[in-house]
Amino acid sequence: KVLIVDFGSQVTQLIARRVREAGVYCEIAPFQLAERAFTFLAPRAVILSGGPASVHDQGAPRAPDALFSAGVPVLGICYGEQAMAAQLGGKVAAEHHREFGRAEVEVLAESALFDGVWTKGGRYPVWMSHGDAVTELPPGFSRMATSASAPMAAIADEARRFYGVQFHLEVAHTPDGAKLLSNFVHKVAGLKSDWTMRAFRQEAIAAIRAQVGGGRVLCGLSGGVDSAVAAVLIHEAIGERLTCVFVDHGLLRQGEAEEVVRLFRGHYNIPLVHVQAQDLFINALIGVRDPEEKRKTIGRLFIATFEAEAKKIAADGRGAPEFLGQGTLYPDVIESVSFSGGPSVTIKSHHNVGGLPERMNMTLVEPLRELFKDEVRELGRELGLPEAFVGRHPFPGPGLAIRCPGGVTPEKLAILRQADAIYLDEIRKAGLYDEIWQAFAVLLPVQTVGVMGDGRTYEFVCALRAVTSVDGMTADFYPFDMKILGRAATRIINEVKGVNRVVYDVTSKPPGTIEWE
Ligand code: XMP
Repeated sequence: KVLIVDFGSQVTQLIARRVREAGVYCEIAPFQLAERAFTFLAPRAVILSGGPASVHDQGAPRAPDALFSAGVPVLGICYGEQAMAAQLGGKVAAEHHREFGRAEVEVLAESALFDGVWTKGGRYPVWMSHGDAVTELPPGFSRMATSASAPMAAIADEARRFYGVQFHLEVAHTPDGAKLLSNFVHKVAGLKSDWTMRAFRQEAIAAIRAQVGGGRVLCGLSGGVDSAVAAVLIHEAIGERLTCVFVDHGLLRQGEAEEVVRLFRGHYNIPLVHVQAQDLFINALIGVRDPEEKRKTIGRLFIATFEAEAKKIAADGRGAPEFLGQGTLYPDVIESVSFSGGPSVTIKSHHNVGGLPERMNMTLVEPLRELFKDEVRELGRELGLPEAFVGRHPFPGPGLAIRCPGGVTPEKLAILRQADAIYLDEIRKAGLYDEIWQAFAVLLPVQTVGVMGDGRTYEFVCALRAVTSVDGMTADFYPFDMKILGRAATRIINEVKGVNRVVYDVTSKPPGTIEWE
């Protein structure tokens, strides 16, 4: 295991993903809990993340001293390097030359960290983002690499296996970063690549059996990948003692509800209650224009519908389910992990079923709590979910309701669904689906004049959105070849009655959000 001490960097999760991609299990602990996490996890290596602080700040975050006397290798990145240097007797100065963005390092010495990747005398591109820099080495350390603004771009005490890098090796802009991280966990720390989804599947199944015993589990399906993978895994563990409830709110994309039903009943033969609640939701949404009001309405109805179904299931003579299965992922729980070793962790309520566990007095079963999104997809493949399902773009719980600014009607939903399907079809045909993080159509409450054939038209505008992103926190609009957009627009206008104009959204996040509402 590797422990990552989080000093508040925006990209700490990327460090964890890179380590896991190297086949090594790791967990993130905020620096305040690092000491407890260190004792609890007994990691074989520690990584100190970057962070926004300066070691000269009052009360600047520090790594627990215990880390440096336990004989485990430590890698400090950016602020992590500075904190390590300052704590071990070196000096850090506020640099005159702040460095943000692409830079080049010159390698000054061979190192276990660089082994097979960087050689002495070579120059390599890296990504820098720092104000302060290490200016004086702590005892026992040597300078391994230098850059124009960071004389100590990489430092090491090879005997104690302490390494510090000023650049961010976890980001894609440092092309060799993943290899350097792999060197740290494999060659320096001697850890094996044993974190695979095949191994995880077996362990997770044993853990679910141990937790649930002879009890029953109820699982809500949203139509998305996370809840589906969680349900399939729980089913593999406890079979017919799982019941899935799929509340169909009528706000899903074209063919999506059918696909879920087919997958669970046909492909897996997992007990599934398909609640047809389309009318309930649409009637409550008509006239609601405010985005948050839409979310609240949908959330409230979802809980009420789900609860009603749970009561019916509890009355079926097999006893009420004591457990609620959820597809909560690691990014949702990182801040709340207590490292107490007990089950008393605080849980952030999941977007789609927020409030359910407290109200229903059920114990949560969350087999995906340790996984990142891409790992869930891999696990889904391992469990035999179809590729088309596993690789699907994320989709918000409130569904198409938040893609109809100005209010939802059944007619608008039908138009949006059709336009969205055509757009995605064109993206797939162009071979770009997997390259794009999320793509969808939005139906604007604006009508414009057009001309079709000999006649004047006055119809809705459809906006197309596509973004690349790592985690949805930030995103860039996708720079389509205009020909592809043109093809999608022509097809939408020709095939979808009610749309006569198509526009493309070129806003990144920030300042925009991915969804329009
Ligand atoms: P934004 O629009 O905030 O979206 O940039 C970031 C990601 O979150 C999804 N999203 C939601 N997911 N319930 C959800 O389950 C919601 O209310 C919700 N709002 C946004 C969005 O699709 C994107 O992937």
